[in-house]
Amino acid sequence: MKVIIVKDAQEGGKKAFKVFQKALKNGTNVFGLATGSTPLTTYVQLAASDLDFSESISINLDEYIGLQAADPQSYHAYMQKNLFRFKKFKHSFLPNGAAKDVQAEIKRYDQLLVKYPVGLQLLGIGQNGHIGFNEPGSSFTEKTHKVALTESTIQANSRFFDNVVDVPRFAFSMGIGSILQAKQILLEAYGPKKAAAVVAMIQGPLSEACPASALQQHPNVIVIADVAAAAKLKY
Ligand code: F6R
Repeated sequence: MKVIIVKDAQEGGKKAFKVFQKALKNGTNVFGLATGSTPLTTYVQLAASDLDFSESISINLDEYIGLQAADPQSYHAYMQKNLFRFKKFKHSFLPNGAAKDVQAEIKRYDQLLVKYPVGLQLLGIGQNGHIGFNEPGSSFTEKTHKVALTESTIQANSRFFDNVVDVPRFAFSMGIGSILQAKQILLEAYGPKKAAAVVAMIQGPLSEACPASALQQHPNVIVIADVAAAAKLKY
């Protein structure tokens, strides 16, 4: 893994932007995208740039189950608000959180990932080391699946909702096996709450206890972390 340490999320977003710019220039046309606080500075950079994604595909990692795309808390709405209204992709895919048939939706997503292999996958990391909604204990080979969110993730994500009881309990997520298929992976981590997860991901054992440690098996990973998130790394 290549680790880039930056001052803060602003600087990190600028570095991440450069990774997108280079990938696009080199012919990458399928971008795996993430939500949450972490990629916001990257999306600001992408939104303000003249990069042209009109011939590119975007595929998001995950979506809450039980929310309509139009729900302001959905990841569809997040992507619209933070990126897609500024940058149009040829096609943008997210799991359908309102799908009636869960198994059919999982199959649709896996087929999409086969049709559009991800060239660059953007990731954040949870305080417990999750990537996508793959919580500790997830298999490293799993593809898209339905996940029960852990209590810690529900608590962490409740900051985006009026009340913790409004946080959905289930989500669709690409699996770690799906994520590892990407040609290149870019993970961003900002703030002291991510420090334990970052050191476990990079310098801990390869273990399902830290889902992000699976990235140690991937040949082309860039980690951009700010000083606070990188504070526990030992050199
Ligand atoms: C989001 C996602 C999650 C987040 C993680 C960190 O699509 O898949 O794994 O990346 O929960 O969230 P933030 O960035 O809000 O700290």
